Amino acid sequence: MAGFESDNFTGDHNLHFGYWDNPGDDWSLERAEERFTELMIEKLRAGREDRVLDVGCGMGTPAMRLAKATGSTVVGITVSHEQVKRAGIRAASEGLADRVSYQYADAAVLPFEDGSFDAVWALESIIHMPDRLQVLREMSRVVRPGGRIVLTDFFERAPVPEHKRPAVEKFYKNWVMGPMVTIDDYPRLVREAGLRLVEASDISEQVMKRTLEGIARRIGHDRDHIDDTLGSEMADDLDLSDLIEVWELGYLLVVAELPANDA
Ligand SMILES: C[S@@+](CC[C@H](N)C(=O)[O-])C[C@H]1O[C@@H](n2cnc3c(N)ncnc32)[C@H](O)[C@@H]1O
Repeated sequence: MAGFESDNFTGDHNLHFGYWDNPGDDWSLERAEERFTELMIEKLRAGREDRVLDVGCGMGTPAMRLAKATGSTVVGITVSHEQVKRAGIRAASEGLADRVSYQYADAAVLPFEDGSFDAVWALESIIHMPDRLQVLREMSRVVRPGGRIVLTDFFERAPVPEHKRPAVEKFYKNWVMGPMVTIDDYPRLVREAGLRLVEASDISEQVMKRTLEGIARRIGHDRDHIDDTLGSEMADDLDLSDLIEVWELGYLLVVAELPANDA
């Protein structure tokens, strides 16, 4: 949830990690967050006629970018009334109110008809949900046959050694994480949800270290303001610099699809 900034902790922007394609890319974290949304758009392959569900839409920034880039209609859901309100205001101010909407809903019980979306994505939100399989089942239910599902998740690349565990536990506690998974859990989860796995890629090298360094820089830069508004204990909780050396904590991109009826 890398989107905070000095005027407001949650900010009105992307609430996800960054993506740098190559080691030589010297983009800022803000640019890398945008690049990550672009990568998701490439993977989703939505078109003008498509209706897309954004599960865990945050402040609505990725949904608006998706709608602008593809012409598709996007419905974002979140469990924050404040996010629904602010994202809706932003979509209206950008002239997207007819194609981008946000509503309060829990991903575990989606308030949508079976097969009512052409595609579904969840950008860095399933990590906050206690039952991944239930959420995947709901995504599988609301997507049409042949439709794609793209999501990102954190995962354990290798067992975290004892001396690094406190940093990981702090992350899970303070950044509201569900249970940890490994990359090997995904083929089963996807299959049990009735989906076909297209891709499960370890993108940790493109995502983790530079995002964590960027967050540490942001906190350092805004520290006085964060201390004043949230208190120094909270500022300490948000600081993820301890994780920079924890290469065992990885980042995963998953693409799946609901088999077509004739498949
Ligand atoms: C890290 S933010 C990511 C936001 C957005 N996808 C982005 O990339 O900017 C996680 C989002 O998941 C939402 N979320 C968490 N649990 C949820 C649930 N059970 N159902 C729906 N949304 C949920 C949060 O409210 C928040 O909007």
